[in-house]
Amino acid sequence: MAFPDSVRIVEVGPRDGLQNEPDPITTATKLELIERLAMAGHCHIEAASFVSPKWVPQMADHREVMRALMQEGAAQPGRRYSALTPNLKGLEAAIECGVQEVAVFGAASESFSQKNINCSIAESLERFAPVVERAKAEGIQVRGYVSCVLGCPYEGDIAPGQVAKLARALDDMGCYEVSLGDTIGTGTPLKARRMLEAVARDVPVTRLAAHFHDTYGQALANLVAVLEDGVQVIDSSVAGLGGCPYAKGASGNVATEDVVYLLEGLGIDCGVDLARIAAVGDWITHTIGRPNRSKAGVAMVAKG
Ligand code: HMG
Ligand code: MG
Repeated sequence: MAFPDSVRIVEVGPRDGLQNEPDPITTATKLELIERLAMAGHCHIEAASFVSPKWVPQMADHREVMRALMQEGAAQPGRRYSALTPNLKGLEAAIECGVQEVAVFGAASESFSQKNINCSIAESLERFAPVVERAKAEGIQVRGYVSCVLGCPYEGDIAPGQVAKLARALDDMGCYEVSLGDTIGTGTPLKARRMLEAVARDVPVTRLAAHFHDTYGQALANLVAVLEDGVQVIDSSVAGLGGCPYAKGASGNVATEDVVYLLEGLGIDCGVDLARIAAVGDWITHTIGRPNRSKAGVAMVAKG
């Protein structure tokens, strides 16, 4: 299959990128990051997470972040700000803040599901069903995540059929898109392609997104493999920030700057400006005192 003409990038830096940061990051810094990402051309930004502050303290200001964005966002057609909502409690809080889109997040691994959201895969689906139903009744779109699609920190290899089963359940439930997360970044292109092909037998590839981490330096290669197989939505995190609090050692999502550079080279339009996103990566890593994990970003900044 040929590469697509265009790709939608979902910028997950403000949520997936920051959720694991041990030191508090101010709400003002988060909002400034989101504004800078939008100015670089991002139109879909995952901005907050309505999860328990005991489980993920860094996301405790989810209400403040979402309220501020919705006040400002109302005047900005074309921009979409989304948030994670693991249960009805999170969804109700997000609705109060005027959220436009939410995401439920499950895992293809039983152990990871228990560690991350404190329930089995079957229980998670029972929890998500009323979340999706209620959100849709409010006219709010719901995205689904499947974590550990190419490996689990507790169970090792994950069968592609297991990923397909969960993706299908989320699709059947009414998620408009299912994002496939290589949470610990152990995937390689052949594995990524096999997994995608298994899932695409149950869920059309046009409703799938690739959410790859770069722990072993394979994320871009994996993306090329799934782009060739028809994926048109990529999740990425500015400067490669992040990691999952329940997946020790996993480095961040593939860096947005590297994805934009790759897509430009393939002649694929994504709407994000490379120089501008590189400047955002430079700014946020200096602001929070983290190394910039984007090779393209570092090279662009060094070039001036
Ligand atoms: P639980 O302890 O089983 O829930 O946690 P509970 O219903 O028994 O409630 C316990 C306490 O949490 C109660 O408070 C609830 O009110 C509160 P207490 O009475 O003890 O004071 N609570 C909440 N507070 C705020 N918002 C809520 C909420 N729900 C309950 N929504 C729960 C279950 C799902 C809440 C918990 O396990 C949790 O918050 N987990 C989140 C873990 C997380 O955010 N992980 C990172 C995101 S997933 C990820 O990064 C992977 C992904 O990016 C893909 C990839 O990278 O590959 C998606
Ligand atoms: Mg991630």
